[in-house]
Amino acid sequence: MAETSKTATLTLDGKTYELPVLSPSAGPDVVDIRKLYAQADVFTYDPGFTSTASCESSITFIDGDKGELLYRGYPIDQLANDSHYLEVCYLLLNGELPNKTELEDFEYRITRHTMVHEQMHNFFRGFRRDSHPMATMVGVVGAMSAFYHDSLDINDPWQREVASMRLIAKLPTIAAMAYKYSIGQPFVYPRNDLGYAENFLNMCFSVPAEPYKVEPALAKAMDRIFTLHADHEQNASTSTVRLAGSSGANPFACIAAGIACLWGPAHGGANQACLEMLREIGTVDQIPEYIARAKDKNDPFRLMGFGHRVYKNFDPRAKVMKESADEVLDLLGVHDNETLQVAKELERIALEDPYFVEKKLYPNVDFYSGIILEAMGFPTSMFTPIFALSRTVGWISQWKEMIEDPTNKIGRPRQLYTGATKRDYVDVTKR
Ligand code: CMC
Repeated sequence: MAETSKTATLTLDGKTYELPVLSPSAGPDVVDIRKLYAQADVFTYDPGFTSTASCESSITFIDGDKGELLYRGYPIDQLANDSHYLEVCYLLLNGELPNKTELEDFEYRITRHTMVHEQMHNFFRGFRRDSHPMATMVGVVGAMSAFYHDSLDINDPWQREVASMRLIAKLPTIAAMAYKYSIGQPFVYPRNDLGYAENFLNMCFSVPAEPYKVEPALAKAMDRIFTLHADHEQNASTSTVRLAGSSGANPFACIAAGIACLWGPAHGGANQACLEMLREIGTVDQIPEYIARAKDKNDPFRLMGFGHRVYKNFDPRAKVMKESADEVLDLLGVHDNETLQVAKELERIALEDPYFVEKKLYPNVDFYSGIILEAMGFPTSMFTPIFALSRTVGWISQWKEMIEDPTNKIGRPRQLYTGATKRDYVDVTKR
């Protein structure tokens, strides 16, 4: 629990109110306004939650000025370089790194949950072939509540754990099925002899007609992409999962809500939007025109893959992702493609341009991830599903933390009402 060490004083209409100030283990102090409405009859106003801590959490910490991201205290670059995704999943869910036996047990359990109920195949077939894989995923993940009745009781710790395992294990299968369905190829069943990332690549790129071997370096790069996206404290989709879960909704429904929120281009959809933007720019000589548009207040265009609500320095995930991009492109022999040239030049110009420098708009994780995923052979429509499957562990860890918090209440923000005041209904003939 956070400590109360100081108080803040609010003066309103000649009266003063003492508000407790909570001290976190890292980050700025938090003024506790929970009793403010009862005591002073006022609400606070913070659209977009730019200054509001919506919950207490001990999972992930971001220092936006330093460009630092910690999962349970461990820096993201150390985890991305020295750990692997399933170990990171254990860490996020349980708070500590596993010992050897705990890790083996966890991996064994995840691996034994990778198949989806066979009847779910029919569910996929109900979608149009040209559906965006995110549309399919929102539907199918929500539909898991209709298939796994024995893990819906949120008050039973065992059922919560089984639901968490199922979600982490089945999301790659569901994402790969959404992809295979969209290109008209047969679904590929998961293989439990393969690692988590290797299995995902196999389900996406193998076909029953011929043998397929996943390149180990690509599986490693994929695993690193999963790790870099695993959690990011109270971002829009995580807050959506928490808000949906605060009403007591089941975990599959909550994760479907998170996937829906992630899809937007200001959030997880930025990776697809960024690569599409790079292709639209097309050639290096077009960049100045797009930079000018991004700066023009009257043009809604933004440089996708740049800027972040919290990071006012280089996104630490982007640093690792950039190194990974260089490795993967070297491995695949992609050196001189036009999209890559545009990306490099755009990054160079934006990092020097006073508009971006003054507003502290640095490349974010989505700027480089699309370049790697495209080189690996994924279509742009699969970029956000890959983000979604990676983030599932973060969502479920945050959901679990909330359910296990005895102070948890249904999320119910208030509003600053500016509509009509009470008035009488007038019949349509008299209007
Ligand atoms: N291109 C041009 N100008 C920008 C950009 C951009 N990408 N991002 C922010 N700005 C400007 C913005 O116009 C505003 O200028 P002013 O102060 O003159 O009005 C200022 O910078 C602050 O922007 P904001 O919209 O108030 O900042 P925010 O914290 O609400 O938005 C953001 C953060 C990520 C939504 C935004 O930077 C953005 O739209 N970026 C492009 C989309 C993107 O790459 N999203 C992925 C984020 S990282 C992964 C994830 O979270 O899913």
